Amino acid sequence: MIKYLIVVAVCSISVLFPAKNTQLVEDYPMLTDLEMALGKDFGDKKPNMSIKGVSAEAGESLVKNGFATNASGKKTKQQSKHFVCTSCHNVEREDPNMAVNDAQARLLYTNEKGLPYLQGTALYGAVNRNTYYNGDYYKKYGDLVYKAKNNVREAIQLCAQECAQGRKLKDWELESILAYLWKIGLKTSDIQLSETEKTDLGEAVNNKEKQQEALFLVSKKYLDSSAATFVVPPVDRDKGNGLNGDVENGKLIYKNSCLYCHDKGRYSYLSLDEGSMSRNYLKKHIGTYHRQSVYQVVRWGVPVKSGKKSYMPQYPVEKLSEQQLADLVAFINN
Ligand code: HEC
Ligand code: HEC
Repeated sequence: MIKYLIVVAVCSISVLFPAKNTQLVEDYPMLTDLEMALGKDFGDKKPNMSIKGVSAEAGESLVKNGFATNASGKKTKQQSKHFVCTSCHNVEREDPNMAVNDAQARLLYTNEKGLPYLQGTALYGAVNRNTYYNGDYYKKYGDLVYKAKNNVREAIQLCAQECAQGRKLKDWELESILAYLWKIGLKTSDIQLSETEKTDLGEAVNNKEKQQEALFLVSKKYLDSSAATFVVPPVDRDKGNGLNGDVENGKLIYKNSCLYCHDKGRYSYLSLDEGSMSRNYLKKHIGTYHRQSVYQVVRWGVPVKSGKKSYMPQYPVEKLSEQQLADLVAFINN
């Protein structure tokens, strides 16, 4: 009797909802899952979960706190004495449109979400990118960049040692961070798809002939690399870069970027706040060739000093546009 009822129930469900040849893009909340359904091969970019101790939770803790708990329940040594990954990278989405690099749009978007505005590209979506340390970063890290260029593991390891000035990650730690990065990959809802495009993509899931075109369509919807162009400070620092600055926008940059690291000397000996003392201190040096000129620190960063190992990463124009730099200077001089 029960068996009979089940058969009847199953039959009526399939009458009401006939098996479709189309999949819904909404069936794939993670963009990587949609791309895999469309035939993309991620090869060994996926974490090796078979190593003892590997978990996305451990990876998240390493990224946010700089340590994790290993397979035998012991707390690891701090990865870096100076920084954690989130000192320089957001782990949340930071761009309103994933297909364009627009520093000002990112500043406003992160401000709205209560996020800092930082030199490193968001780790959110890092697994969706194909190349790392792009553009001018080879000028800073030299040959080290070539290994990391097409290899997410090398990119993480390079940053742990060179950017964070810390120890090398153990295999299980590296795979854990990678597992966490897969968790914070782009969501399908992060890219902008029209209804027609959604239908086309859904159809392509079960139609091999349409898959290549579908993958191409998806690839146009987000940046698969984060561009980086280093620019030099203005030659005449008294005159500045010739652009008129917007004080309010400059304040936003100062608060969400500079103070994120300098408030109460969080990551630097230099403690800054919103008061006039801090601003006067910065103002005094702006027009000079002093190593504390804002132009100098923003465009060239502050190098690792021997014995200290803490340093300030520079801002490529993609992270602080020339207009934004003029805004920051206008705020400080105001
Ligand atoms: C002091 C600042 C700083 C710290 C700390 C730091 N990073 Fe970075 N990281 C950078 C900068 C700057 C880049 C250059 C490329 C970019 O992000 O645009 C970078 C690049 C990367 C990239 C490649 C991104 C891309 O698309 O090119 C990855 C992955 C990465 N870091 C992971 C990490 C991890 C994991 C940690 C912690 C173990 C970490 N970083 C700590 C500043 C930092
Ligand atoms: C990711 C963290 C971070 C951000 C963001 C940041 N700084 Fe720094 N800054 C540092 C660190 C670390 C140092 C190194 C000094 C040290 O050894 O403590 C530094 C050094 C400096 C110095 C002193 C340079 C020297 O040689 O004495 C100035 C001035 C400065 N920063 C200004 C700024 C301004 C202006 C901004 C915003 C545009 C900013 N910083 C954003 C981390 C940061």
